[in-house]
Parts: sequence; C-alpha cells; structure tokens
Amino acid sequence: MSGFLGSTVGKKYLMGISGLVWAGFVLAHMAGNLLIFVSHDAYNSYGHALTSGKLIYIAEAVLLLALIVHVYTAVSLTISNRAAKEQKYAVAAKGAKRVSLASRTMAVQGSLILVFVIYHLITFKYGTHYETTVNGVVMRDLARLMEEVFQSTTYVVWYVVCLILLGFHLSHGVGSSFQSLGLMEGTYRGTWKKLSYAYAVIVALGFIAQPLYLFFFATN
Ligand code: HEM
Repeated sequence: MSGFLGSTVGKKYLMGISGLVWAGFVLAHMAGNLLIFVSHDAYNSYGHALTSGKLIYIAEAVLLLALIVHVYTAVSLTISNRAAKEQKYAVAAKGAKRVSLASRTMAVQGSLILVFVIYHLITFKYGTHYETTVNGVVMRDLARLMEEVFQSTTYVVWYVVCLILLGFHLSHGVGSSFQSLGLMEGTYRGTWKKLSYAYAVIVALGFIAQPLYLFFFATN
C-alpha cells in the first residue's frame, strides 16, 4: 500500500472503518440471535430468510474484505509501533521501551477473537445440517444445533470468555475508530466515548445471555 492509505494515519483510518463494519455486524448478529428467546421456529425462520437471498453473498464478501483489511492494518501498525518505540528508547530508558498495555492487549484480544470466529464458523455455519419444517417450508434447524452445542460446559465457558474479551475489544476499538475518523474532538468527545462503552456492554451481554440461556433452560 502506498500514498495516504499506506501511511500510519491512512492505516488507522482503514483499521477504524473495517472495525466499524464488524462492529455493525456483531450488533445485528446479536440482535437477530435474540429470537432464540422467542422460539426455535422464530429463530430458524429468521436464519432462513437471511440466507436464502443473494444479499448474503455481498454481506459475506464485505465482511471477509473488512476482516482482511482489519487484520493486515492491525499487524502492520503493531509492528511499526513496536519498532518505533524500540528505536526511541533503545539507548535512553531500558524499562521504558515497552508498548503500552492497552495496545498490547488489543493485539492479544484480536488474535483470540480471530481464533474464536474461525472456530465459530466451523461449529455453526459449517456444522451439522439438521432440517426442520416451519409453516410448510423446509429449512435448516440452527436452533437445534445451537442448543446441542451449548449443552457442553466447555463451549459455554469458551463463549463467555471470548465474548467478554470481545466486549473489551469493542469498547476500546469503537472509541479508537471514532478517534481515527476525527469524531472524538470537541464537546462530543465524552458522548462518543460513553456511546462506545454502552454499545460494547450491550453487544457482549446480549451474546452472553444466549449460551447461558440454552445451557440452563434448553427445551429439547
Ligand atoms: C452467543 C454468541 C453467538 C452465537 C450463539 C452465534 C450463532 C451463530 C450461528 C447459529 C451462525 C450460523 C448462521 C448461518 O449459517 O445461517 C453464526 C454465524 C456467524 N457468526 Fe455467530 N454467533 C455468536 C457470536 C458471534 C460473534 C461474537 C461473532 C464475531 C465476532 C460471530 C460471527 C459470525 C459470522 C461471521 C457468521 C457467518 C455469517 C455468514 O457468513 O453467513 N458470531 N453465528
């Protein structure tokens, strides 16, 4: 990458925008999944409606592109950040040549979330294909798969841990994205910050409730 998009500011911009694409997706994904609290039929019909149109392919392509851009810019910025810090402090203060705790944890959080997403796709998107019929329409029974998966304590714990991490990642990441896009300036700084925290808490708690509900109150 060269020019503006290849510069540090450009990469931060790209990282922010690609992160916000995913932030929008996780909010929609969490909200849609809440239908599992209504009924299996409601959840399956929703999943069926989403996946039977052509729009899903566009959405998947956008998500994949955003993921690649996000990971690429994150790795690239982390590497140049570390190199810059080491150069700056190599002679002066030995103990000070450390990357800030926040940025170090962002990279670890991001890597774990990436592992989570890949494993998540294997579990659900490419998992067992049960079928059910709702109002005469044959469709995938994703609710049954979800309920089955979340009978396992290991899965539930893994999900809860990763979703807490996602909450931290989002609370810091969404705020940083707003900053990169120049929204964190002036009087509205505090408001944007609060909004990104509130958003992160809603997404994390909304998701966490799902495995816990299925673990404790499974109906089948
Ligand atoms: C309690 C938490 C979650 C549950 C129960 C859940 C459930 C599901 C299910 C059942 C599917 C399959 C949908 C289908 O194939 O039609 C799915 C797909 C997917 N999930 Fe999740 N999900 C959760 C959290 C997350 C999180 C936190 C992320 C991202 C950080 C995520 C990313 C995705 C992606 C990218 C897909 C594939 C979408 C597509 O390409 O059609 N999920 N999820």
